[in-house]
Amino acid sequence: MSGPGPQPKEMQKTAPQLTLEDGSRVGVIGGGPAGSLFTYFLLVMAERIGISLAVDVYEPRDFNQPGPAGCNMCGGIVSESMVQLLSTEGINLPPSVVQRGIDSYVLHMDVGSVRIDTPRREKRIAAVYRGGGPRGITKLNYESFDDYLLKLAADKGATLIRDRVDGIERSNGRPLLRTKGGLSNEYDLIVGAVGVNSTTVKMFESLGVGYRQPKTARTFICEFYLGKEILRAYLGTSMHVFLLNLPRLEFAALIPKGDYVTVVLLGHGIDAELVESFLNAPEVKKCFPPRWRMPKEYCRCYPAINVLGAHKPYADGMVFIGDSGVSRLYKDGIGGSYRTAKVAAKTAIFHGISAEDFQKYYLPACRAISTDNAIGKMVFLVTRVIQSMKFARRGLLRMTSREQQAAGARRQMSSVLWDTFTGSASYRDVFLRTLHPVFLGRFLYEMFVGLFPIEKRLWFREDKMALGGLGKVYRPGEVIVRQGEVGDCMYVIQSGKVEVVREHEGKEIRLAELGEGDFFGEMALFEKDVRSATVRPLGDVRVLTVDRKMFLRKIHDDPSLAFMIMQRMSRRLRELNAELTRLTSERMDSVG
Ligand code: CMP
Repeated sequence: MSGPGPQPKEMQKTAPQLTLEDGSRVGVIGGGPAGSLFTYFLLVMAERIGISLAVDVYEPRDFNQPGPAGCNMCGGIVSESMVQLLSTEGINLPPSVVQRGIDSYVLHMDVGSVRIDTPRREKRIAAVYRGGGPRGITKLNYESFDDYLLKLAADKGATLIRDRVDGIERSNGRPLLRTKGGLSNEYDLIVGAVGVNSTTVKMFESLGVGYRQPKTARTFICEFYLGKEILRAYLGTSMHVFLLNLPRLEFAALIPKGDYVTVVLLGHGIDAELVESFLNAPEVKKCFPPRWRMPKEYCRCYPAINVLGAHKPYADGMVFIGDSGVSRLYKDGIGGSYRTAKVAAKTAIFHGISAEDFQKYYLPACRAISTDNAIGKMVFLVTRVIQSMKFARRGLLRMTSREQQAAGARRQMSSVLWDTFTGSASYRDVFLRTLHPVFLGRFLYEMFVGLFPIEKRLWFREDKMALGGLGKVYRPGEVIVRQGEVGDCMYVIQSGKVEVVREHEGKEIRLAELGEGDFFGEMALFEKDVRSATVRPLGDVRVLTVDRKMFLRKIHDDPSLAFMIMQRMSRRLRELNAELTRLTSERMDSVG
């Protein structure tokens, strides 16, 4: 991320109103996750402070179209922490959007493979189609992720304009957008959320406000049809990650989705030759049936990804978010969109929309991502060194396998790999953990003297549960939370109902019935106390856990996350007060 550049003189003196007021107009260019989440957060926050905004989102594509027409050229993984954060924001991805709930990563190397389970053994990573699915898909059984988010923004009150912006200028100091379809609209604030694979990002550069687009690298993404049965048998509910000693290849993954597998390759100068060597590697071939041959025609693209943030991603009445601003290196593109969208929306609502406001309140968030990316480059360098030495690869595999098999073992290597692959923690956090003497000692031991056998098909476990949907299914008779027990997470209901009961002097009192989108277990989380009640399913219920540490850490970064919880707790208190008043007055009546 580069610092702010000098502001052109006419920009400084002409901007008439640099705060959002009741009736202000906002134009969002791009309806991908960054644009939709920005719009959603902006409208939620505006409602909270009691102002009404007119927000237009410009997006010419229909994301429900299969193939390139609706595609956003992306691997389509919503990371573990992102799934949890969205659910605490009240955004619960429905099973129609989740192509597959991912509960584990399988790391493949020439020395063997190991499966790393999510710490809670539940599906907390979502594999999604950003668009309507790959070229050639016949039935649209699923909903596009981008379309789902765009609808959320529209439901909050935004107007969707299906037109392409092809001109930006200033009129009376205010930004003005012109579209291919002949519209021209003035705004108080315009938001660039066009990614890095669009020519519109060049238009922002020519505005003369100091914006320079991010530096990018080419990646490769393709999709093969395999069918549900083959996917279930060979890839299961895992994302498959490869650390292979192939020149120019930094990272490669296979992601099962619906009837297809998505192949993602990241590295330097990825071309058809590298793609072929990857697909012919024995570690990759074992993830496909023995006689499977690559089809001649398949959906593929070489999208650009952001590897160095934009220069000065803001100006008076303008801000650039998502990939057009800064994103996390090699992973969690949707997480980067969420973070930049939320901070930009908060700045616009609570501080102002001048260049100085964005520099003071938005730029630090971009810089934090860029700094972490610099550490990420180091993490990938270390990974490459390990990749190039067989004894180091063996050590890594042994240490992970041992941790995964021994009940109660400290999962040091597993958690480092898990967080690196899933994007659940910052690169800084991951890097610091690898410097811990206990971690280093264990790794050195496994590299040089470890005798733990590496088993062949240790990684595979067939999953009999439904493949779509997130969380874990509880059935009647089971208990999700038990009164008096210590708890370290809270829960968000994805589908179904639960009852909350409190035991008192041998009797059970029913406190509440909760349904889809409600959460519970937050009391023990905030108070560091035991569970205040028992929660059990009423019929089958699908529940997603939110980790205490992750959640409390995020609340410190972004206190507005606590707002939803406060709102619900205040509603519960209101209901309890009403009930208490009713009971007390009944008792007084009967005594009187
Ligand atoms: P916790 O104490 O962690 O675990 C039990 C959960 O039950 C508690 O958090 C709340 O989420 C939920 N709970 C307790 N009392 C009520 C209530 N009166 N209404 C709804 N939910 C409740």
